[in-house]
Amino acid sequence: MYMNCLSVKLRCLKCFSSYDPSPLRFLCPKCGLPLEVKIRLSKKVDWSSIRAHPLGVWRYRELLPLPKDAEIITMGEGGTPLIKSVGIARKYGLSNLYFKFEGSNPTGSFKDRGMTLAVSLAKYLGFKAVVVASTGNTSASAAAYARRAGLKCIVVLPKGKVAKGKLAQVILYGADIVEVEGPFDVALEAVMESVVKLGSAYPLNSFNPWRLEGRKTIAYEIYDQLGFIPDNVVVPVGNAGNISAIWKGFKELKEFGVVNKLPVMYGIQAEGASPLVKLWSSGGEELSPEESPETVATAIRIGKPVNWLKALRAVRESGGAFMAVSDEEIINAQEELARLDGLAAEPAGAASVAGVKKLVDYGLISKDEVTVAVVTGHGLKDPESMSSCDVRVITTSTLDEAVSAVMRLCRGE
Ligand code: F0G
Repeated sequence: MYMNCLSVKLRCLKCFSSYDPSPLRFLCPKCGLPLEVKIRLSKKVDWSSIRAHPLGVWRYRELLPLPKDAEIITMGEGGTPLIKSVGIARKYGLSNLYFKFEGSNPTGSFKDRGMTLAVSLAKYLGFKAVVVASTGNTSASAAAYARRAGLKCIVVLPKGKVAKGKLAQVILYGADIVEVEGPFDVALEAVMESVVKLGSAYPLNSFNPWRLEGRKTIAYEIYDQLGFIPDNVVVPVGNAGNISAIWKGFKELKEFGVVNKLPVMYGIQAEGASPLVKLWSSGGEELSPEESPETVATAIRIGKPVNWLKALRAVRESGGAFMAVSDEEIINAQEELARLDGLAAEPAGAASVAGVKKLVDYGLISKDEVTVAVVTGHGLKDPESMSSCDVRVITTSTLDEAVSAVMRLCRGE
């Protein structure tokens, strides 16, 4: 069913039960937690032949669990630049800091990586509609890929809490919008319940383990772009799917015999939405959900991350940590990323950079280590946060005034 050497199972991380790989099975029936896709290869992977394909999600086709005969719904996702920091590196003395800039995906965030795979699967399975809860980016991506596949798209959003750029994307693509009171967690519950009751739309949230498979390509790409495994990978965490998927990607590289080192993973949450940081600090084993998460980084305004156990395992196995950053630290990082390195990130995307600075301050990352901060979404997604940065504006009313203002600025006055 899959590519040449691939065999696939579903596995529960909690009770370790194993299940046949149905694309319609998402949660462990015993534990209620999202299952994990377990990939096995019957022969050693030839990475040099993989590298012969253009960089991007589908370079790794033979490692992705999409049936061989499925049509791939793609817009060239992945293949995002790995950019070495210049300005932030100089300011903080970090000699090997890189940004994996996921803002350059087709809809402006890393979500397109999972969506190309999950929407291809939905189409292959014969679904006519897809449904997704979102803080914004997932809905924009789902709406775009659904349109391309000719499917109907229903998105469930926390009312009044989705950044303007993302909402505009959803409107442009013409998805049907259901708004809910309360945080993303309520929207996700609505999707999970309606999918169970109806089953007529394919769910694209990250409790669907098949969607996460597309996201693991971030790890493959980081390896291909650097030519080696970095010391640290720092990831903003919301629903906790991305950090889990990236860790899975690195672990597979090791299991497949391509590399023999793994990075240390750091998960960054906003202080006002940090259930995993609290779980980490308490040393406990069960997540206590936060009922009213709040942060300027609306993309990660989540109190009950559905993939919490996967993320906890990822960080623990890698020897990393979870860390909280304040809204002020996020906004500072967003501004520094733009003004010192030229990159526009939305607040959640800059949270990883705020995290790097804090991890260095706390002595968890040393300044000469190779560190990759995953910058997950483009600044254009959230025009309000960008335009609240400090800037000098001189308003003039005549041509002469404009000319003299420009000249004064050129003279550095
Ligand atoms: N960064 C951005 C820009 C995001 O949009 C998200 C999640 C994350 C980080 C966190 O990733 O959930 O896998 O831990 N956005 C989701 C959405 C929740 O609906 O767009 P995660």
